[in-house]
Amino acid sequence: MNDRPIIARESRHSSPVLDRDQPWHRLIAGRPNLAWHAMDGLCFDDIPLAAIATAHGTPTWVYCGTILRDRLNLLQSTFSKVGLSPAIRYAIKANDHLAILTLLRQSGAGADVTSAGEFARAAAAGIAPSAMVFSGVGKRTDEISHAIEAGIGQINVESVEELAAISAIARARNRTAPVALRINPDVAAGGHDKISTGRATDKFGILLRDAGPLYRHAATLPGIEPVGFSTHIGSQIFSPALFEAAYSRVLTLIDALNAEGHPVTRFDLGGGFGIPYDDGTGFPLPAYTAMVRRILADRPLDLIIEPGRWLAGPAGLLLARVTLTKHTEAANFTILDAGMNDLLRPALYEATHGIVPVSAIDATQPAQSTEIVGPVCESSDRFGTYDLPALTPGVLVAILDAGAYGAAMSSTYNGRPLAAQVLIDRGQPHLIRMRQTIEQLWRDEIVPNP
Ligand code: LLP
Repeated sequence: MNDRPIIARESRHSSPVLDRDQPWHRLIAGRPNLAWHAMDGLCFDDIPLAAIATAHGTPTWVYCGTILRDRLNLLQSTFSKVGLSPAIRYAIKANDHLAILTLLRQSGAGADVTSAGEFARAAAAGIAPSAMVFSGVGKRTDEISHAIEAGIGQINVESVEELAAISAIARARNRTAPVALRINPDVAAGGHDKISTGRATDKFGILLRDAGPLYRHAATLPGIEPVGFSTHIGSQIFSPALFEAAYSRVLTLIDALNAEGHPVTRFDLGGGFGIPYDDGTGFPLPAYTAMVRRILADRPLDLIIEPGRWLAGPAGLLLARVTLTKHTEAANFTILDAGMNDLLRPALYEATHGIVPVSAIDATQPAQSTEIVGPVCESSDRFGTYDLPALTPGVLVAILDAGAYGAAMSSTYNGRPLAAQVLIDRGQPHLIRMRQTIEQLWRDEIVPNP
């Protein structure tokens, strides 16, 4: 398929009629695995999206295995350039499909899990419990118990109360749980109030001033092996300085404990690395790794990172079809067959995802402003105002960078079945999740006395 003429990627391929200042062109130019081909329209890793829509319908999530592998490799190699090799514990909440987990496991990732369900999913994808970190403020007794029995690599403890509970559970089972205390460093960070987690008023972690005494106490508790600290200050963060503020506070604590003879061997740096949803620049990974190297100095700590969005976000898109266009005196609406039940991020966080036409012909047309909305009966079911070529009913669009917190957060609200999922890998599209059927919507419901 490589011989298809590309009409919009690099300048040497571009069609003379394509206005490269158009926002949709700038979005595609920054995403090397996407390109319009004159005949086949928008291709993802050289597979025409229109063909995927014909085969599987819309809305459909489409992921690219090459991007996932490339990003994991880039993460590993950028750290190794500064002499570091953190264990990568992919935050599977971002995208927990078994095929995605399997692919990342094959490339060397473990998992950061937050529930028995995520633990079981990661295990089903072949990830060893020893390569898992268990995070979350509300771990249940049965979940903790199961994780300890299975030999979890690390439990990130979020409170005094939880530490006591883990000790009791481990002691009752005659086991020892490796725990890291999750520090709440009181640093405000994150792309939106709702995804900021490291402020003192957030529910997450243990306040810095309480963490030293608690670590000392942990060493006296039966069933507990204190191994170190973790922190996770939020998501969609671009500034290494914010991470530095958090990490430095933890390192000061680590130094004090080591000096007292309380060994600290691990530092889990969390996740939170941002991705551009527009045509802006990405997370400054080399500056971040250089910062980590600098502040770590020669401390012999074993590092862990828990990236979710940065790995999976750019590897996926949501393919949707225009159902209807609606013109009123007040606005022009383009109504898609994908909505907030599929991609919740715009409604929940006012997030804006790039939207581009799939047809190469459409891509050459002039821009006009339109409100892109979904079909759900909520005013918040709205993707935003976009400058796009005139989109007519039936045409396809791709909603970009939807590989993280997309399908994982979707629901069947308004009686809309979960969308199909396709993984393009090694040159082939694979259906990795069938579209839910209408009947499956109520399959597990029980009507007493029908
Ligand atoms: N570690 C912990 C303990 C976390 O809570 C999270 C995300 C991560 C790692 C991964 O963060 P990431 O690298 O993906 O930023 N649904 C929101 C994002 C919520 C993030 C929750 N925790 C969104 O769509 O923006």
